[in-house]
Amino acid sequence: MQYLNYCVALMHFTPTNIEDLPTPCCLIDKAKMQRNIARLSAHIGNLQCTLRPHVKTHKSIEVTQTIIDAGNVKGITVSTLKEADYFFKHGMDDILYAVGITPNKIAHVAQLIQQGCDLTVVIDNEDMLSLIFEKMAQHNCVFKVIIELDTDGHRSGVNPHTDTLISIAKHISNSAHAKFEGVMTHAGESYACFTEKAKQDMAAQERDLTLHAVKRLFEEGIHCNTVSIGSTPTAFAVDQLDGITEVRAGVYVFFDLVMAGLGVCDVDDIAMSVLGTVIGHQKDKGWVITDAGWMAMSRDRGTADHVQDYGYGLVAPSSSHNTRYIMSDANQEHGIITAASNASPETPSESQSKSTDGIFTHFPAAKAVEILPNHACATAAQYSHYYVVENGVAVDKWHSVTGW
Ligand SMILES: Cc1ncc(COP(=O)(O)O)c(C=O)c1O
Repeated sequence: MQYLNYCVALMHFTPTNIEDLPTPCCLIDKAKMQRNIARLSAHIGNLQCTLRPHVKTHKSIEVTQTIIDAGNVKGITVSTLKEADYFFKHGMDDILYAVGITPNKIAHVAQLIQQGCDLTVVIDNEDMLSLIFEKMAQHNCVFKVIIELDTDGHRSGVNPHTDTLISIAKHISNSAHAKFEGVMTHAGESYACFTEKAKQDMAAQERDLTLHAVKRLFEEGIHCNTVSIGSTPTAFAVDQLDGITEVRAGVYVFFDLVMAGLGVCDVDDIAMSVLGTVIGHQKDKGWVITDAGWMAMSRDRGTADHVQDYGYGLVAPSSSHNTRYIMSDANQEHGIITAASNASPETPSESQSKSTDGIFTHFPAAKAVEILPNHACATAAQYSHYYVVENGVAVDKWHSVTGW
């Protein structure tokens, strides 16, 4: 009954001024989100390719529908099988589960396939093959499998130059239970590319090493139906996609301070924020305390190695104050807002010696404070719903599917 009331509440959302929302909560600026989505859809369309958006950023069917409406979309990418369940239930039937598959998830994958979901799984480990084949054999279906490539030394994947690539592909192709589908890679090292040239070089490397793997497999008589690459910085930097069947990106829908620091977007493009309320002042220290701590922002300190380190987040720039304010420190349910220096993260004690003129005027008790996140995916994952904002008013409430 409680759940039913919750669903009814979601369906009938009464427009609310954001100052009246319960805090902390997560806001989506709808116009900015639509603009960000349109930007990548147009870029990938101009390159005659299609997008397979990574929905882990928002885990929301409404955001996904907005991406589909913008065009050039072929299927979705998920990071959990719970996301796969949720999006399949909402009509998305072409899904790439882009985290290395394990034997204990095969029964769940089989269930989705048997219900009609065109679900593809990923592998990069030869030792895993026999273990998953054994589990696959227990189900009456064929599992589509993609090999993950390591094109930047960032995380997982098979080196495209190695014999292991060919060996894994042959094993999959020869299996009665699996169908070899192709290759995918994610150039996570693009998050360390601060210049345009560095991003373009990383995008070319991600694409070219992937195409090298495709060529090597072809020479062995193995065809790749799917050739999938992508991260937000490389998706925007890439200038040619011949031979690539799809581009994956996720965080571009909201952007965040990490993407702004890399020059992929401006701070003003960031479409997601956390709303907190001022709960106190520590006047001797120059601190404003809010009810949005690290549970509200996540622990992600993605800008820590950037020229502009924003601590746990940047108070949304406003015409009412010229000074930049950041969440310089955080406890679980407390955020500490201080004036920011231009260059570095301040510890609260450093900020004490600075002028605190104005901070308590700008952030009086009970004021709503909007804070932009370092990493939108990490922040969004803290919430089970978002408030959708148009012209300063929350006009809708969208559900997101958290957990595993
Ligand atoms: C496998 C995979 N593909 C695509 C993406 C999307 O990249 P981004 O978050 O930069 O948009 C990610 C992000 O972590 C990923 O892990």
